[in-house]
Amino acid sequence: MRSTELLIERFRELYRAEPERAAFAPGRVNLIGEHTDYNGGHVLPCALEQGISCAVRRRTDDKLRFYSMDIPGAGVIERELSRLAPLSSEEWTAYPEGVIWAMAEAGYPLPCGLDLLFYGDIPAGMGLSSSAALEVATGAAVASLFGFNIDNKDLALIGKRAENAYVGVNCGIMDQFASAMGRRGNAVFLDTATLEYAYAPLRMPDHELVIIDSRVKHSLAGSAYNDRRRECETALSLLETVLETDALCHISPDQFEAVCGVIEDPIILKRARHAVYEDDRTVRALEALTKNDIWEFGRLMNESHISLRDDYEVSCPELDILTELAWAVPGCVGARMTGGGFGGCMVAIVEKAAVKGFVESITDEYRKRTALEARAIIAEPGEGAHVVY
Ligand code: GLA
Repeated sequence: MRSTELLIERFRELYRAEPERAAFAPGRVNLIGEHTDYNGGHVLPCALEQGISCAVRRRTDDKLRFYSMDIPGAGVIERELSRLAPLSSEEWTAYPEGVIWAMAEAGYPLPCGLDLLFYGDIPAGMGLSSSAALEVATGAAVASLFGFNIDNKDLALIGKRAENAYVGVNCGIMDQFASAMGRRGNAVFLDTATLEYAYAPLRMPDHELVIIDSRVKHSLAGSAYNDRRRECETALSLLETVLETDALCHISPDQFEAVCGVIEDPIILKRARHAVYEDDRTVRALEALTKNDIWEFGRLMNESHISLRDDYEVSCPELDILTELAWAVPGCVGARMTGGGFGGCMVAIVEKAAVKGFVESITDEYRKRTALEARAIIAEPGEGAHVVY
């Protein structure tokens, strides 16, 4: 049975009523441009075919009822529309609650309560943006239900606002943007400072995008993500004393090398170096993609991993093992950790003929070294959020 049909059927069973609308929003994998989206830089993610669907119906009272088929143990969670408050929710429902709250803030208050049901195929903690998918799917379903005139770009901004202010994770715009604005067969090249974007076709007739889950769950709610942001702010304020700039990613590598002596703390210096060079790599990666120079693209992915591992220090031993194993396989064009880090997934570009051997040899060796069962997904760039019912 298709997942939308399952969602609808389960909705009827659970709430004993017809859903009025359902929307799907995908997860994302970032190809390059990591930890640049809060430094005014570029990112190059693609939406996935995997994601989360949300079915909704109006209620006649003030209640919001949430249920996730992916977390059945949590049961139906109830909130009151009029009592939604930032940082008040410890449950998974903080994400959709936050979206409903952020919609009201943006001038689209809900006139009544809702029953909501969620169903997806990207587990939380994999680093494939299940939280952004949850936010954007909620936004898309609710906006369509009430006929709110909110385009997908604004749905992304509402999702980010929900996550920043309501959930309390200080993330950038990349994940929500990829989820809302992704396009089948394409990566999205986004300037996070201006929100200007362009689609970059991923023409890879002889290669596959392979995602491998380390099975180490990551969490951005931990302090490390927010620590990195603060370290970048410190670096920027020092560089601003010697350069005219408003963002780390607006500084070229040459400019940076000329003035970076102003940063004395070696940790802060490493963080800034990552942001500056990663943005440069991302722009060059787009050029390589445009020229169909897949090997140059892969080389930049490898450099990105090394920078995230050594300078930004957001990788973890398991992701490093996976990535180093990948680099050693002939036919692997490039590989790096993807997403916020501290666990989650590696993404690699692999020659089609080598994919089977690549996955087998890496998962075997990884199991030997870590006792963990890595999971592979052969990914296809999918379509951004859309109404499915
Ligand atoms: C997480 C955040 C994004 C971005 C990445 C790192 O996925 O949600 O905004 O900062 O980490 O590139």
